[in-house]
Amino acid sequence: MGRRAGPRSACDGVEHLSAIEPYTRRILGGVQPIIVANRAPLVLHQADPYRGTPERLVKGAGGLVTAMTSLASATDAVWVALARDASDRQLAERGDPAELTTDDGTTIKVAFVEPTSEAYDLYYNVIANPLLWFIQHYLWDLAREPVVDETIHRAWRDGYMNVNQLVAKRVLAEVERTDKPAVVFVQDYQMYCVPGLIREQRPDVRIQHFVHIPWPTPQYWTVLPRHIRDAIVHGLLGADIIGFQTSRDVRNFLMTCEQNLGLTVDHRERTVFAEGRAVWVRNYPISVDPKTFIQHSEQPAVLAEIERIEQWRPKHLILRVDRTDLSKNIVRGFLAYERMLEAHPELTGDVLFWAFLQPSRQDIDDYRAYLGSVLRVAARINREYSRGGWTPIRVEIEDNMERAIAGYRVFDVLLVNPIYDGMNLVAKEGPLVNQRDGVLVLSENAGSHEELGEWAITVNPFDIDETAEALYLGLTMDDGQKKARQAKIRDVVRTNDITRWISLQLQDLRELIG
Ligand code: G6P
Repeated sequence: MGRRAGPRSACDGVEHLSAIEPYTRRILGGVQPIIVANRAPLVLHQADPYRGTPERLVKGAGGLVTAMTSLASATDAVWVALARDASDRQLAERGDPAELTTDDGTTIKVAFVEPTSEAYDLYYNVIANPLLWFIQHYLWDLAREPVVDETIHRAWRDGYMNVNQLVAKRVLAEVERTDKPAVVFVQDYQMYCVPGLIREQRPDVRIQHFVHIPWPTPQYWTVLPRHIRDAIVHGLLGADIIGFQTSRDVRNFLMTCEQNLGLTVDHRERTVFAEGRAVWVRNYPISVDPKTFIQHSEQPAVLAEIERIEQWRPKHLILRVDRTDLSKNIVRGFLAYERMLEAHPELTGDVLFWAFLQPSRQDIDDYRAYLGSVLRVAARINREYSRGGWTPIRVEIEDNMERAIAGYRVFDVLLVNPIYDGMNLVAKEGPLVNQRDGVLVLSENAGSHEELGEWAITVNPFDIDETAEALYLGLTMDDGQKKARQAKIRDVVRTNDITRWISLQLQDLRELIG
């Protein structure tokens, strides 16, 4: 899903990290962490005079923000991010870095980088999404797209590279400003060239780059012109350690270095040798902060949402919570549900599929068109299957964290069927707080399948019949099995929590640099 609960206050974060990982805290105490990401962790919601709502600072969307907020709020980290719109530019005026506190008490220092709106558009809406995002989730319909023409070449140069250079410059300014050794945590596919650009100027700085999304096979990368795909890998190799979500991503990256760039790779040691340096490649499955997430799920705002849901939910509730992203496979989810209704008419009136969707990247044509097809397919199924007062699908397009968490608490089946996904935190958050021993139906291509697959019902995301059967099995599974499966998933999420994600990365960094 989009916005998520991180620590409720800076204190929560510190306590949590220090209680579990004194080692991690010691390492962080001696260095200046600098987090680099496309998005700031906080979003300014403007006051709405018509609704009478005041201005609010709330946490930003996506799993990346959730994860790094834990680190940022527990340390004196500076978060370097892009000013993406007028609201971000307004926040940038509050200081350099701006010290920002959300309405739930989390304080983070944010240094905003302000590219021109044209450069930002080329970087975000032409290169990062869709080009790289589509490559990394295997979303291109290759017989037709992408068409790599002058628009792409220019967007790479004047958008992506331009923005990465501005970001690297801003990071270098922060490195100069501190008297502690800096450790730079670069995040995701929007910033691939940043590590290399920092390394050129300051070879002494320690850099970790974490890629939150899948890394496809070497062959699929050859969709991109050589100069672009090689710049991406060389940029990443500026880091000391490159982190991925799963072991499959690590293998694909090592093979990409070897096959596409002819670099020397040690597969057993998961190391790439480039420009006289050894770069470690590791997988660290990202997670949530279970304690604060559970606390959040018990807040009055969530309980109020649950009461509202109870007024309309039938006996069985199938839930999905996603950004309206093509990779999430929302349409096939509806088709599978339709197939289940067809095969089990006895469920008529007793089941509802609630798709709670957060609007995403609506400046991009493909995303707008996709949201259109999501709505059309849901409407068609509702037209064909509605009986009496019962409608089989409920679609809500809204960015409302409390309502999403309320849904997590009351689902019977949670459908997480992405085409490909880096991790998918919905698969971890939902079972963690669910109160009905609900069942997780999980795509074999979600990163979280590596950890949770054994206790979920696994589906091939393209197979409508298999997904239909999985939904039915989830609804009809016996209580003992459901309880046992959910308990196992919770154990994994509690053990492999966000603190572990951070501390494993820091331990590796310490081992590498001594
Ligand atoms: C995914 C990506 C993140 C991104 C998030 C939200 O989780 O891995 O890098 O921030 O989606 O996407 P957006 O484009 O809205 O920042």
